[in-house]
Amino acid sequence: MLPKLMAANWKMYKATAQARASAEELCTLLPVTPEQREILVCPPFTAIAAVAAVFAGKPGFLTGAQNLYPKEEGAFTGEISPDMLKDAGARWVLTGHSERRSLFGESDAQVGAKTAFALAQGLNAVLCIGETLDQREAGQLEQVLARQLAAGLADVPPSCPPVCLAVAYEPVWAIGTGKVAGPKEILEAHALVRRLLCEKLGMSRELRILYGGSVKPDNASEIIGLDNVDGVLVGGASLQAESFSRIVRA
Ligand code: PGA
Repeated sequence: MLPKLMAANWKMYKATAQARASAEELCTLLPVTPEQREILVCPPFTAIAAVAAVFAGKPGFLTGAQNLYPKEEGAFTGEISPDMLKDAGARWVLTGHSERRSLFGESDAQVGAKTAFALAQGLNAVLCIGETLDQREAGQLEQVLARQLAAGLADVPPSCPPVCLAVAYEPVWAIGTGKVAGPKEILEAHALVRRLLCEKLGMSRELRILYGGSVKPDNASEIIGLDNVDGVLVGGASLQAESFSRIVRA
């Protein structure tokens, strides 16, 4: 079994000095990586190098990015390539986060292109999927997740090593709202994602499925203990090193 992936998405928070300080504090609070845990921090682009420098030589501490553009280089003003992310020290990247989809109009096909290109260029990827409240209430959970997974992984071969790819199930209605999906909803959605990944897409059973959406120190241990939950993706509660370290140890 792969270690649980405990991921922090710092979104558009923290300039370099703050990011470095948070990364250092995290290392102090977690002098050794807890057993069966990997820690992934995704700061803004400008702070990737600083965080990667703090984590250098610390086993189990990984640095990632929050987005990429699926081209090697070119006239793409404002965008960033996988090589540039690797150059800064990132080894992972998030694709398809719901804020990218809803605020920046990323389509399923674009998310799929980003995921496949990131992997092809040697980054590891966390593909984020999840339904809105309207979709859930309309009984479209399976349809939405199946569509996002199929498109998100359309060009990812089933032979992709499970250590290189993770899927984060993040119900949109639970992101940044303080509303957590209950254990029943998480179990049901994660079992569904596992089934779609294995049976429909032929992916490895070992692929990690993370839960995201208002994960906090006081609900993390229940969530991480559920079947098919192989890690978490944490926004708000990852900004403070103290609170994120408690989640990592959950
Ligand atoms: P949240 O964000 O933990 O603040 O709900 C999760 C995410 O956006 O990945």
